[in-house]
Amino acid sequence: MSGYRRKKSVQPAFVPGKKIDLRVYNEETDLHEYYKWINDPAVTQYMDDIYPVTLDEARERLRKLASPDMDNVIFFLQEKNSGGIPIGITGLYDMDDVHRRARTRTMIGSVEHFSRGYGTESKILLFWYAFYRINLHHITSIVQAENIASIKSLKRVGYKKEGILRQNTFFDGRWVNDIIFGITKKDFRPVWEKYNESLKK
Ligand SMILES: CC(C)(COP(=O)(O)OP(=O)(O)OC[C@H]1O[C@@H](n2cnc3c(N)ncnc32)[C@H](O)[C@@H]1OP(=O)(O)O)[C@@H](O)C(=O)NCCC(=O)NCCS
Repeated sequence: MSGYRRKKSVQPAFVPGKKIDLRVYNEETDLHEYYKWINDPAVTQYMDDIYPVTLDEARERLRKLASPDMDNVIFFLQEKNSGGIPIGITGLYDMDDVHRRARTRTMIGSVEHFSRGYGTESKILLFWYAFYRINLHHITSIVQAENIASIKSLKRVGYKKEGILRQNTFFDGRWVNDIIFGITKKDFRPVWEKYNESLKK
């Protein structure tokens, strides 16, 4: 896969939403929160990251993910008028500037912030950035088949099921399937139009 040559004009920006905003990484406010999230099994149970992560490892991981030289764009999520405390992270990974594709992952960092619509809204804002700002064409997300919240949220933002990876994940002592979801700019358009209308109300 070829690398993604990020130009100055597509540096991550602030993406304002209805209940949350997406913003760039700020080590001062975000590192310790991220470190807590990725070491909380209630948050990571359906994710691949199951080993404990040290603070230095978390710092290094974020430094790489936020670097303009890499094939990623990450955003931290903050609630409106919250003073900048992050509640989660989303991003585009393995971006490819020839095929205009990327993969995405989203993590709401604490259980008390689950099921408030933040995961869904963060994907809508991320896709606005991906499709309408940096002109990607196709985005993929791979989700463990028992991650119901994630699957509901993916379908709501226009993702379509594109395949199954059979017994691809070892979860709670069992082999379970992963589902491949994909979305194109065309799939996303009606979702964006509806969301954009709701912003005006
Ligand atoms: C997956 C995740 C991003 C979804 O974000 P979220 O803000 O919790 O999701 P939303 O509120 O936008 O939508 C989730 C929907 O699933 C529902 N839901 C949540 N848990 C559920 C469950 N166990 N069974 C059925 N429905 C469930 C919610 O009620 C909501 O539906 P509703 O709006 O009709 O009430 C978030 O839960 C998360 O970060 N989880 C931990 C990390 C993770 O698994 N990331 C995904 C890796 S691919």
